[in-house]
Amino acid sequence: HSDASTKKEKTLAMIKPDGLNYTDDFKRIVNDFGFSILRELTMQLDEDDVKLFYAEHSKRSFFPNLVKYMTSGPVFVMVLEKVNAVADWRALIGPTDARKAKITDPHSIRAMCGLDSQRNCVHGSDSLQSATREISFFFREIVSTGKGKNLPKLES
Ligand code: TYD
Ligand code: MG
Repeated sequence: HSDASTKKEKTLAMIKPDGLNYTDDFKRIVNDFGFSILRELTMQLDEDDVKLFYAEHSKRSFFPNLVKYMTSGPVFVMVLEKVNAVADWRALIGPTDARKAKITDPHSIRAMCGLDSQRNCVHGSDSLQSATREISFFFREIVSTGKGKNLPKLES
């Protein structure tokens, strides 16, 4: 039996370059909150990757610094799955500004390892539509440009 309320979702979680030391903590949280890890990948993003991934922000004044930050070292990417995965992962990571997170959501992931609104150590898809785009960014499109491992397609 399954209906809308029990349908599993996938979301894209990414540990940004300054969060890599926290990989074990991330995995513990992912496990404790009942997510399944369907895929994982460590890779170095280049400028073009970041410009594409964060295309919606390309006109923002913070964009050049965001590109520098996101290319400053490897990122760790996971495809997570569970019921309500998108909203639940967003709730776990906390608000964009890690300084705010430390006050309003002190147990959130960004409160744990982030510094400010740029260096916030983790990403989560903001909607099902974003999740689909972002998952295919890492686990389909990059295969054809030879950047990723030769990973099989995910069931949608
Ligand atoms: P945004 O989509 O607003 O936040 P979120 O990651 O919570 O979905 O912004 C995307 C990323 O852009 C954010 O994680 C870090 C960067 N950013 C800055 O560097 N400075 C800013 O002032 C904002 C709003 C975002
Ligand atoms: Mg966002």
